[in-house]
Amino acid sequence: MIDAGATARLVSRAAEFLREGELVAFPTETVYGLGADASNPQAVAKIFAAKGRPPDHPLIVHLPESSYLAQWAIDIPEAAKQLAAEFWPGPLTLILKRNTGVPDAVTGGQDTVGLRVPDHPLALALLREFKGGIAAPSANRFGHLSPTTAAHVASELGGAVAMILDGGACKVGIESTIVDLSRGTPRILRPGMIETAHIARVIGDVHDSAINQSEVVPRVSGSLDAHYAPRTPMQMVPADELFPAVFAAIADGKRLAVLASISAPESLDELVWRTASSSSTDFARALYAELHALDALSCDLILVQQPPETSPWLAVSDRLRRAVAGSGRI
Ligand code: TXA
Ligand code: MG
Repeated sequence: MIDAGATARLVSRAAEFLREGELVAFPTETVYGLGADASNPQAVAKIFAAKGRPPDHPLIVHLPESSYLAQWAIDIPEAAKQLAAEFWPGPLTLILKRNTGVPDAVTGGQDTVGLRVPDHPLALALLREFKGGIAAPSANRFGHLSPTTAAHVASELGGAVAMILDGGACKVGIESTIVDLSRGTPRILRPGMIETAHIARVIGDVHDSAINQSEVVPRVSGSLDAHYAPRTPMQMVPADELFPAVFAAIADGKRLAVLASISAPESLDELVWRTASSSSTDFARALYAELHALDALSCDLILVQQPPETSPWLAVSDRLRRAVAGSGRI
């Protein structure tokens, strides 16, 4: 167990690295972030180099608390203040009109900026110590699975960062819900564990365009098909088609791994069969860690049982669809 003094020293060293223009990976409640001083374009450029991410993809700026909003955004609508009051610190990103002085490197040259206050004690300690905005995408190489442990970050980006703050496994497990409040009716750009219905209860009308990303005007890199993806080819199968798909793959001579909430047929007790939770929040928390672990087995195929088509599962289904679309390409 690391004592409080040791943690404070690590946090203070991490803030120093950020001030020096270095990259620091840190835990949030959603996934680990690859952080840089958001006001320093040279530091932000290092994020894109480390991730291999196209330079026009905007980054989320993480803030210590909502009172920092006005430094980064202008024309902040009442709805943004209501959402911040309800959900921050928490897994919600607000897209607002950018303030002057927000580097183009952060916004991808757009007139908007993504902002959020994360709900993780180490992230908040770092932000308070740094006293500024930390630009941070998920700490994975572009298109790969997002990291939910410090070990995931170390294996992908260990060489590129000055420091990794280890805050254990992320408790939400998938990326924040993104709401665009910069124009017209608020719009969900990326589904997350904060559901559209909850957002609508706070601010009223909300467009749920996350389902049809091709119509979304601002660039959201999560909207690319090949995203959040394992190297192993992956397929999603409805529960009642799972056993036939498993037997067909085995008959094909494929080495197979399965992630499903139903249990394995008894005849196949030596198969890699990971039992997934039937609770959407538990499933989300474990999702990337399961996919990282299954991917590391280097099987020929990962079969995942399709989750229910209900709103608590929307974000999980979204990430699974993208993982399937991008799988097997690397
Ligand atoms: O939970 C999260 O949001 C995590 C943690 C680290 O905070 N971060 C994360 O960052 O998922 P990233 O870069 O992997 O995804 C951020 C998404 C991207 O799809 C990006 O295009 C979108 O946010 N985004 C950022 N700024 C935007 C803007 N101004 N307009 C539209 N989309 C924006
Ligand atoms: Mg990402």
